[in-house]
Amino acid sequence: MEIKIAPSILASNLAMLGEEGRRMQAAGADMLHVDIMDGHFVPNLSFGPALTAALHRACGLALDVHLMLCDPLRYLQDFAKAGAAVITFHAEADSPLSDTLDAIHALGCRAGLVLKPATPAETVFPYLSRCETVMVMTVEPGFGGQTFMPDMLSKISAVRREALRQGLSPDIEVDGGIDCHTAQQAAAAGANLLVAGSALFGERDYAKAVSRLRAAARAAQK
Ligand code: DX5
Ligand code: ZN
Repeated sequence: MEIKIAPSILASNLAMLGEEGRRMQAAGADMLHVDIMDGHFVPNLSFGPALTAALHRACGLALDVHLMLCDPLRYLQDFAKAGAAVITFHAEADSPLSDTLDAIHALGCRAGLVLKPATPAETVFPYLSRCETVMVMTVEPGFGGQTFMPDMLSKISAVRREALRQGLSPDIEVDGGIDCHTAQQAAAAGANLLVAGSALFGERDYAKAVSRLRAAARAAQK
């Protein structure tokens, strides 16, 4: 599967969001990951639809919107209107999973389920055929800059194995603590869409950081 890189804008210079997005586009990133937190589902607050729309206007990258919301169903239309290409939401959220996936597709976006570290792989199995993306959190959601949890590697493999068994090839996305070393481990386990915040925005040369991460993951795939 093609390796895709999605820098997480949460780790950027927030006073210059548009410019940061454009720099990542020029650096060869495939998408821009936008973390939406409601202060309830996770103990942090971040961005909303208006800021997402502004980011969409400012840079040409497809937006990968990660909803860390108790009731994602209620806000789907706002984020679709804001220009989201992909909307992912948590399997642990209160909205009915099936209806939420259907609603995302009806709005013309790609859909994905996200699993917190404690949620087993099997939770997504019944929904795999309707997920363009499955995201395995490799940290507890809520904050950037945390340490990758190696225990999640077996979950990544379990999702990839089951997808193959069902004849499906969704993007398997990993989020949290991804750098060249952990990207390699995640890609070897079956992940192909890598979210990285601090490891990319913490570098001076974005193009070099993006290609290094991509090369590390590609090498591990073979
Ligand atoms: C955490 C967010 C992540 C975060 C990743 O809740 O979902 O997208 O920005 O940041 P790093 O790569 O620094 O762990
Ligand atoms: Zn995220």
